[in-house]
Amino acid sequence: VFDELGRASVANPAVNGLLERPESRILGATIDQLMDTVAAENQVEVKELFSPTAVQSVPLNVEWGGRTLSLSVAPLQAGQAGVGGTVAVFRDVTREAEVSRMKSIIVAMVSHELRTPLNAVQGLAEVLQQGVYGRLADKQQVTIDRIIINTKRLMSLVRDVLDQAQIEAGTLKIESVLFSPSELVDAVREVVGGLAKDKGLQFLVTIDEALPSTLVGDPQRLGQILINLTNNAIKFTETGSVSIRLYQFDLVHWAMEVADTGPGIPISAEAYIYDAFRQIDSSGSRRHGGIGLGLSIVKRLVTVMEGDIKLSSRLGRGSTFTVLLPLVHPGPHLLT
Ligand SMILES: Nc1ncnc2c1ncn2[C@@H]1O[C@H](COP(=O)(O)OP(=O)(O)O)[C@@H](O)[C@H]1O
Ligand SMILES: [Mg+2]
Repeated sequence: VFDELGRASVANPAVNGLLERPESRILGATIDQLMDTVAAENQVEVKELFSPTAVQSVPLNVEWGGRTLSLSVAPLQAGQAGVGGTVAVFRDVTREAEVSRMKSIIVAMVSHELRTPLNAVQGLAEVLQQGVYGRLADKQQVTIDRIIINTKRLMSLVRDVLDQAQIEAGTLKIESVLFSPSELVDAVREVVGGLAKDKGLQFLVTIDEALPSTLVGDPQRLGQILINLTNNAIKFTETGSVSIRLYQFDLVHWAMEVADTGPGIPISAEAYIYDAFRQIDSSGSRRHGGIGLGLSIVKRLVTVMEGDIKLSSRLGRGSTFTVLLPLVHPGPHLLT
């Protein structure tokens, strides 16, 4: 417990152990004085937790000495028996943090290794499909088509898991290069256009004239965002259309919008659809394939790009996802 002046007034024995100092060196100390074994950038985050305007309740994990501590902070109500100040709860999560880091590394390694044989399976199946080793009978053709569809599905799952693991491990890198928005949507159309056609959906792509013909960003990752959103739009929409629109949003943002005429997303679900492994209706999604990583990856990519994602939806009418991205002016260092 810290008093109104921010000095520790109560500390239980567990805290002495976690902060590795006797009670006598805790009582009377401010949180700043207790943080001598915490990295400078983490100190800033901890201080924010203690500031009176902090939005508390979300525990913060901090590397504290040799441990990972989870720290929650809540204000004491002034006036009640004259007490004011702050209560801080420290929990040792060193083991959990280590396990979760190991998990990310293992998942990243495994999914990386899975991609090589999968690429081979797809490549070889395509050789057969194209009749390189002789014309296929109808049933063989149908079978090979299904092998390829399922291989692609498996590859996209593995890619999602790998991306998610890289995001968790903090190793995902974003490029900043010149690219053409029209080439970006062409690449996306190549991947998802067929899926829309197979489902009998109208598939529309528009680029507003006002959008610069060259933008700065990571075309690979932007394509992945569009593909994930469009895949969902197609997957959940039974009739009508799916459309992609790129446009200049305001002076400093451009936008990628993916709209569908599907079932819509209830407002109550908006809070969690971007969480990893979360789906609105897992029975429906199992039928549709997917494991609930697409939007989580999209959200993280958009955040790393310093953009924003918005959803507007009406149940039974459809959903529109809009990704806002900063318009970066191509400086001389980017011109090649
Ligand atoms: N366009 C959409 N229309 C309706 N529901 C959607 C749409 N996009 C996403 N959702 C909902 O959000 C959930 C999470 O999406 P996502 O993270 O891409 O996972 P997945 O596609 O693997 O289910 C989906 O399972 C679905 O319930
Ligand atoms: Mg998805």
